[in-house]
Amino acid sequence: MFELLVAHRGASAHAPENTLPAFELAWKQGAEAIEGDFHLTQDGHIVCVHDYETKKIASKNLVIADSTLSELQQLDIGSWKDQKFQNTRIPTLEQVLTTIPDKKKIVIEVKTGSEMVAPLTKALALSGLQSQQIIVIAFSLDFVTTWKKTNPQYETNLLIAFDLKHPHLSPSADETLALLKTSQADGLSTNPHPAVNQEFVQRLQKAGYQHHVWTVNEAEMAQRFFHYGTRTITTDIPEQLRKVLPQ
Ligand code: G3P
Ligand code: CA
Repeated sequence: MFELLVAHRGASAHAPENTLPAFELAWKQGAEAIEGDFHLTQDGHIVCVHDYETKKIASKNLVIADSTLSELQQLDIGSWKDQKFQNTRIPTLEQVLTTIPDKKKIVIEVKTGSEMVAPLTKALALSGLQSQQIIVIAFSLDFVTTWKKTNPQYETNLLIAFDLKHPHLSPSADETLALLKTSQADGLSTNPHPAVNQEFVQRLQKAGYQHHVWTVNEAEMAQRFFHYGTRTITTDIPEQLRKVLPQ
């Protein structure tokens, strides 16, 4: 059953992705959860940024894993979106966690491998958030498997981007279920591939897994996944989808 409208990288259509302004706007736009992408810096901080480098979002290119937090936070990562966001900085996980209101949730996408397990475990334990407010997601089977073993208290979902060049699911539904079993994930988060249909969502549910979808920016598509029973719908435009999905 549908539960959460998730703001993809914050309200990223209207504010620079993965920044505090984008997350604050997401709450104002009625999202029930925010989604952010997380990497590790050279000096061991968890930072919220999508790519492994800053080329897309800043005038200077720094590789996250080779840079310190202080070097990264010198970059203006707001101006590329709009001059009104000039001087916005890359936030740490801790800064993002402080934006989360009571009863709202965060979807933490881990963009690294298992090296994130120990620092993320520590940061979440210190955050003061309840475990039900936190959902962890990743494409890395290695990360999901290790994370779920060490942190079973957090809902954790495996990400799969089905190949859009094929009309059928690749990996197949059988292979996908095998990956879920291996990783011990609670659910599966997918792109809206045309073959991700009611039958597939129900097959997942019968096997004990929830379905989640990203990135949905059209009302008709959001309503379709709502009717399939997809549990979370991730969007760049929470304000618009809020009007077509129940709260
Ligand atoms: O919610 C999952 C989705 O965010 C994965 O894709 O590229 O936007 O991180 P990406
Ligand atoms: Ca993401």
